[in-house]
Amino acid sequence: MNEEKHWDNIGRAYDSQIFDVFTSDRKKILPGFFKKHARKSGTAIDFGCGTGKSFQYIAPLFKQVVGVDISNELLSQAAKRQYKNVLLKQMDLTKPRLSLPKADFAFCCNVAMLPEIEKTHTIIRNIQRALKPGGTALFVLPALDSVLYAAWRLIEVYKREGVAIDNIPDSEFDYFKATKRRLLEGIIYIDNVPTKHFMRSELDVVFSNAGFTLTQVEKVEYDWNTELSSPPRWLKDPYPWDWLVECKKDT
Ligand SMILES: C[S@@+](CC[C@H](N)C(=O)[O-])C[C@H]1O[C@@H](n2cnc3c(N)ncnc32)[C@H](O)[C@@H]1O
Repeated sequence: MNEEKHWDNIGRAYDSQIFDVFTSDRKKILPGFFKKHARKSGTAIDFGCGTGKSFQYIAPLFKQVVGVDISNELLSQAAKRQYKNVLLKQMDLTKPRLSLPKADFAFCCNVAMLPEIEKTHTIIRNIQRALKPGGTALFVLPALDSVLYAAWRLIEVYKREGVAIDNIPDSEFDYFKATKRRLLEGIIYIDNVPTKHFMRSELDVVFSNAGFTLTQVEKVEYDWNTELSSPPRWLKDPYPWDWLVECKKDT
């Protein structure tokens, strides 16, 4: 897929079409993690910043923030936020040797999820390289475990309504339309777009291979209406989630 074209085309429809992690984060876990890593004299980079939704949280906590994205259209929307200490750069994060200032803190929210697995790993490695030794990165990543869990709960919802598993409409499981092999690689179709999802144990391997030490893995939890069109009232926790990965660059 041509990511630049894809995201430029979404353009103005971004806010209505693209899932907003910040407003959907049920427990508002993200702002606490930003504060934990605040450095008033330091530099933070938002890798794949989109329209700059993170800036309101990050900009007051760092001297300089760099927002990087492949889409000029989304960057032009980010520029309208007019933060004095935010610098915007157009860049393809899957390319080798990115020219960026060394960062104390990196944020990457739902970007390292390209269906080309090697490209996704390159993004993670590029972020590791852009950090100062000992610097911290915070990733939000789609969870394969959550998708499987949500499907399992959907089967229960139907069962309680008297619908046996074999009679559930196939369309309910359209997001499992990758080939067997691609499914095992974690490819799930979100709004018809193949999207890399991660298993919990996979995070240990992938981040270690990229030169990171995981310091904390949490869930960014979302309400059921982000997964099901009309979730029943009884459907409560555990809620669906993305992984929140906090990691340190190995020294
Ligand atoms: C789902 S959006 C998330 C945006 C933002 N992080 C947020 O949470 O609001 C994915 C973003 O990744 C950017 N992106 C996708 N592929 C990229 C690449 N190869 N290099 C840089 N940015 C990329 C897109 O342009 C888009 O802004």
